[in-house]
Amino acid sequence: MYVCLCHGVTDREIREAADSGVSSMRQLGKELGVGTQCGRCACSARQILRESRTPD
Ligand code: FES
Repeated sequence: MYVCLCHGVTDREIREAADSGVSSMRQLGKELGVGTQCGRCACSARQILRESRTPD
């Protein structure tokens, strides 16, 4: 499912980014562009990021 339409980023890609160490929206924006254009995806992207983060 596409989360960020502006950059064509899926929830899966966000999870993969989280797995490889991306832990903030800032980093996610830098890596994938998520949330850097219209910002509409920020809310769901943040949630996916939070859910996929492995607790330490
Ligand atoms: Fe992600 Fe627009 S949908 S920046």
